Amino acid sequence: MLTMKNINKVFKTDLVETHALRDFNLSVQEGEFVAVTGPSGSGKTTFLNIAGLLEGFTHGDYFLDGVNISNLNDNKAAAIRNEKIGFIFQGFNLIPDLNLAENVEVPLRYRGFSAKERQRRVKEALEKVGLGARMKHLPSQLSGGQQQRVAIARALAGEPRFLLADEPTGNLDSLMARQVMELLEAINKAGTTIIMVTHDPELARRAQRNIQIVDGQVCDFTLYQGGQNHQVDTMEQAAS
Ligand SMILES: Nc1ncnc2c1ncn2[C@@H]1O[C@H](COP(=O)(O)OP(=O)(O)O)[C@@H](O)[C@H]1O
Ligand SMILES: [Mg+2]
Repeated sequence: MLTMKNINKVFKTDLVETHALRDFNLSVQEGEFVAVTGPSGSGKTTFLNIAGLLEGFTHGDYFLDGVNISNLNDNKAAAIRNEKIGFIFQGFNLIPDLNLAENVEVPLRYRGFSAKERQRRVKEALEKVGLGARMKHLPSQLSGGQQQRVAIARALAGEPRFLLADEPTGNLDSLMARQVMELLEAINKAGTTIIMVTHDPELARRAQRNIQIVDGQVCDFTLYQGGQNHQVDTMEQAAS
């Protein structure tokens, strides 16, 4: 479970201060699939990076599985990130010179697994995304949708409890976007909590829960259950 309480994030440069998140509150339960939408520049990526322990915050409280993240040093935060969190980005972020198996293996190298265990995880993850037969291919030999599936395999190989996706279908045509969404839905059904930032209202509607970020704050909660759209009155209700 993930809980943010009054998180503020201020970016300071010589000339300007940007309040990327202001008194940001959110609670995500085990097993949820949450879609995050909102205008460009509203703080969606900042929220996801903080949630994934890629970035710190200025003040507020962030609890991940009951651990207060604010008090952790960088090494502890990195260890928790490697163990619990998988990331997927809009641009796939695969390493062009490495084949698919090697790409999926990269984050496992930081975890102290034996070569045999790494191999097992790489094979299983690539099979899960339907690319088990292409372990030796290079990313450039794949379509965009397939490259994103490799990136999902790379995240899955770490067996994360939380999968954070920043516009994972932003570079894909609608057919490939739907295939990636179906894969994410299957991963979620198998127990992984997913938070996905998206511009695509059709994909957002398929998530269990939608939140909107506007001006660095969660502005509106809407629950989608069984195809019905329930507006929820308060954030606490939606978060519970
Ligand atoms: N590293 C950074 N340095 C300075 N400002 C930043 C940085 N990252 C994001 N911002 C600013 O914070 C705000 C939120 O950005 P972001 O979280 O990327 O929005 P979104 O993902 O919703 O488009 C924007 O005004 C953006 O310009
Ligand atoms: Mg963004």
